[in-house]
Amino acid sequence: VTVEQGEVTWQSPSNIALVKYWGKLEHQIPANPSISFTLNSCRTTTKLKFQKKQKPAADFDFRLFFEGDEKDAFRPKILKFMQRVEPYLPFLKDYEFTIETSNSFPHSSGIASSASGMSALALCLMSLERQLDPEMDEEYFTRKSSFLARLGSGSACRSIEGELVVWGMHNNIYRSSDLYGVPFRDEVHDNFRNYRDTILLVDKDEKQVSSTLGHDLMNDHPYAETRFRQAHDNLDKLKKIFRSGDLSEFIKVVESEALTLHAMMMTSQPYFLLMKPNTLAIINKIFRFREETGLHLCFTLDAGANVHLLFPEKEAQETLEFIEAELKQFCQNGQYINDRVGSGAKKL
Ligand code: PMV
Repeated sequence: VTVEQGEVTWQSPSNIALVKYWGKLEHQIPANPSISFTLNSCRTTTKLKFQKKQKPAADFDFRLFFEGDEKDAFRPKILKFMQRVEPYLPFLKDYEFTIETSNSFPHSSGIASSASGMSALALCLMSLERQLDPEMDEEYFTRKSSFLARLGSGSACRSIEGELVVWGMHNNIYRSSDLYGVPFRDEVHDNFRNYRDTILLVDKDEKQVSSTLGHDLMNDHPYAETRFRQAHDNLDKLKKIFRSGDLSEFIKVVESEALTLHAMMMTSQPYFLLMKPNTLAIINKIFRFREETGLHLCFTLDAGANVHLLFPEKEAQETLEFIEAELKQFCQNGQYINDRVGSGAKKL
């Protein structure tokens, strides 16, 4: 089959890790397994236009538009991605591409768009491959999309499907892989259905530490081995918790994972301190709220100062009132985003 020209659009969500990926080997292989909730509203929409060239070029040919404007600042990242995925998509240099992308969340909000952005682009390229190979089966399409997304940004491989996705080999998780994310297929208690994630935008500054550098710093980190073992143990614990629905145990694992991620950054050489005073103020308010109400609001963090608030749907009303009354004041310009667990990427 030859395909002269066309376009395809995918919308892909962000995800929030419960057990964190921090540390990698060559070829974007994770040093430990991770698991995340796929989000629903925080999404990147990417349209890929392609036109076959008269003769294959020596280099990649693409233009890049972000929210309507041509954006050369993103070129090096996309070029690196193209170089990494070309061995698996040998037709890339036969086409001239236009990539148009936009995010549902405010840009420069400090929300990392690499997971949603890289997964959306990977899916678009897979749609072109499927046009070239119409026999391709659905499972292959999904797995390979995740595989390619991983080569763009590790955590992006967890954004293709929902609602819980595991990435990285683990003894007790059926079919888990270092090469791509797979949906968590075990029993999940109703307490975790429709789980909420409200993202408090504490600090919108550019990240002080790129995740590439952060992962590298785990290479000769004094606590690396213990940390990697702990991630396996925490995944085992979560597997049991998802079955039992025990929200108090869930909180213990998830908050410890967030603080451990930051502890790794604080104890690497060089060291980084990414929490801000408002991050700590929020965390202390959460501890007090739990003591006073017995509700199950908990926090998690990425490699930055913003706080993700996780809570069950059945406690949403009281929790959202508390966020508006007590936590909003710690957000830059009072900004926060109400999101929830979602079911993965969609073709438009
Ligand atoms: O996907 P990367 O290389 O940007 O790494 C992201 C790592 C964390 O967001 C800090 C944790 C995770 O598992 O998502």
